[in-house]
Amino acid sequence: MTPDSRLQTPDSSSNSQLFIVNCSQLVTLAGPPRPRVGAEMRELSVVEDGAMLVRGGRIERVGTRAEVEPFVGAGAEVLDAGGRLVLPGFVDAHAHPVFAGNRADEFERRAAGASYEEIAARGGGIRSTVRRTRAATGDELFAAARRRGEWFLRTGTTTVEAKSGYGLSVEDELKMLRVVRRLDAAGALRYVPTFLGAHEVPDEYRARRGEYIALVVEEMLPRVAAEGLAEFCDVFCEGRVFNVEESRRILSAARAHGMALRVHADQLSLSGGALLAAELHAATADHLEHTDAAGVAALKSAGVQPVLLPGSVYALGSRRYPAAREMIDAGLALVLATDFNPGSSPTPSMTMILSLASTHMRMTPAEGITAATVNAAYSLRRGGEAGTLEAGKRADFVLHDCSDYRELAYFFGVEHAHAVYTGGREVFRRGGAFAAQDVDENNR
Ligand code: NIG
Ligand code: FE
Repeated sequence: MTPDSRLQTPDSSSNSQLFIVNCSQLVTLAGPPRPRVGAEMRELSVVEDGAMLVRGGRIERVGTRAEVEPFVGAGAEVLDAGGRLVLPGFVDAHAHPVFAGNRADEFERRAAGASYEEIAARGGGIRSTVRRTRAATGDELFAAARRRGEWFLRTGTTTVEAKSGYGLSVEDELKMLRVVRRLDAAGALRYVPTFLGAHEVPDEYRARRGEYIALVVEEMLPRVAAEGLAEFCDVFCEGRVFNVEESRRILSAARAHGMALRVHADQLSLSGGALLAAELHAATADHLEHTDAAGVAALKSAGVQPVLLPGSVYALGSRRYPAAREMIDAGLALVLATDFNPGSSPTPSMTMILSLASTHMRMTPAEGITAATVNAAYSLRRGGEAGTLEAGKRADFVLHDCSDYRELAYFFGVEHAHAVYTGGREVFRRGGAFAAQDVDENNR
C-alpha cells in the first residue's frame, strides 16, 4: 500500500465506514466485468481471512485484513463476521413474487396424484392465481409481496426479478407492475421488473386467443412502455400456451418498445423456445428442460444466457432436469434461479437451488455460486452493481453460518444466512442463542 493511495482514501467524516473483518472465506467473485463461462465458473476469487470496507452503501476495499486495514478511518464501525463465510447477496433472475392467495389446495391434489397440466387444463394453475390476483387491490398485493420479500432476504437474496403475468388484463398487468415499482422503492430488496402479459390466455379469451395476443401487443405493451414499468418482456412459449409464432410476434413488439427479452422456453416440451430466444437475441432463455443439442448450440452462437430452474423440476415431481453440464461445457454463461411462484416452484431459497444443482445437475458448488450471483446479475443488466464483492459496487453481502462455500450446497434445508446487508445496511440478523436447548436439558 503506497502512502499516495492512503491519501486518496475519502474523508470518513462525510459518511461513516463499515469495516467487516474475520471472514473465514470472503467469496468476492472478482474478475472480468462480464458473465463467467467454462472453467471461469469454478473460480470464485476467495480471500481467506478476508476483510471489506464499505462507505456510503458502496464497497470501498476488499482484500486480506492487512491489505484493507490501512484505509480504515477513525470512527469506522467494525463488523466482526465471527469466522463466517461472506458472499455477495444472491441475485434471483427468474421469479414470480407478486400474486394473491396461494395454491396449497392444488399442491395437496398433486400429492394425491393429479398432474400440474391436468389441473391447469381444468382451469386451475396459473388461471386460478389470476382470478385471485385480479380480485386483490394494489395495496393487498403489495402487502403480500412484502412478506415474501422477507423470505428472499432471509435466505440471502438481495436482488430479485419480478414478473407480472397473473393479471392478464391491461389494468391488472399495470397494477402488478406498479406494485413491483413500489416494492423496489420501499424496501431493502431490489426488484427488476419484467412484463409477462403472455403468461397464459385468460378465461375470457379462451375461444379467441388471437384477440388476446392483439391486446398484449396493441394495448398492454404500449402502456407498460409509456409508464416505464418493465425492463424486460417474457413469454411462456409452449405448444399449449403461446406457440413460437405467437411468441415471436409479442417479443418482437416488446423489442420495438425498447425492452430486452427473456423467454420461458422448452419447459414442458421441445417447443422451439430456445431457438426463438437465439433468433431474437434474447437476454435469457429460461427452463430448458427439453432443449436439445441444436438449441444449446443456437444459444451459444447468439450469446443468450440460459436460466435453469431446478426448483420447478423438483416441485413438479419430474426427473427431467436441464442439461447444465452440457451447457457449461459448451461455454454458456449459465444462471440459476428459483422460479419462485405459487404453482410450479414455491421456494424463494437460492441455497435450495444450489443443492439441487449439485445433486441433480452435476454442477459443482462453485459453478452454482457463480450462476446464482455474477452471471445472474449480468443477465438482469445489473452486473455493474451487484453479483460480486468489488470496489465500487453496491454493498449487498451476506454472512452465512458456515466457514466453507461448499457447505451452502452440501447442507440442504438449513437456513445458512446469518446476517444480510443491502446498500451497506443490516436488513436481517438471525436471532441470538438458542435458549430452548438449555430449557429442554433442565426439564428432562
Ligand atoms: O415458470 N411456466 C410458466 N410459469 C411458471 C408457473 C407459474 C404458476 O404455476 O403459477 C413457471 O414455472
Ligand atoms: Fe417462470
